[in-house]
Amino acid sequence: MKFFVDTAEVDAIRELNDLGMVDGVTTNPSLIMKSGRDIKEVTKEICEMVDGPVSAETVALDADGMIAEGRELAKIADNIAIKVPLTWDGLKACKVLSSEGRMVNVTLCFSANQALLAAKAGATFISPFIGRIDDLSLDGMDLIGDIRTIYDNYGFETQILAASIRSLNHMKDAALIGADVATAPPAVIKSMANHVLTDKGLDAFMSDWAKTGQKIL
Ligand code: G3P
Repeated sequence: MKFFVDTAEVDAIRELNDLGMVDGVTTNPSLIMKSGRDIKEVTKEICEMVDGPVSAETVALDADGMIAEGRELAKIADNIAIKVPLTWDGLKACKVLSSEGRMVNVTLCFSANQALLAAKAGATFISPFIGRIDDLSLDGMDLIGDIRTIYDNYGFETQILAASIRSLNHMKDAALIGADVATAPPAVIKSMANHVLTDKGLDAFMSDWAKTGQKIL
């Protein structure tokens, strides 16, 4: 499973990228707002740092506007994936932009039928929002499983990009179900390294090592 980082915070991306943990980056208008940066400036900086796809989202609500904005965002770098919402107009924009050979990430997906339409419109990525489905006391991971089955049934090449990931279980379950990509905030990716038994075991080793009085260096 590929890891995308869901943030527009350059320092956080750099830390993970230096460790080889970053296969791409996703941003959205809320994340740009949180960064306090200019969208084109910060997106360019991220694109120069990361080799993989960097999603930048359009904000027009009509297809023509999304297409125009998508073409403008694509000028930032070759690794831009244009993000459009899963609306009828978003699907029209997806079809046009993907036909031009551009990467398109169709976002705000909450149903398997929406994902099916996005694949038929030529989406490179479909972004189902797991956490926001969980917020409704449903299981967002069921949607990832349904889309996996449907795409595999018909050989769609659209990559399933599990989004709105908020927990370690989301990461593990997305990998088990076969999401192609998981995009998560830097803190979630870093917390994958944590385990209480690792901390406990390390404490015991350090305590015993101190009793030996030895040094390695
Ligand atoms: O990848 C989409 C993400 O940014 C939304 O996450 O936690 O606001 O639902 P969240």
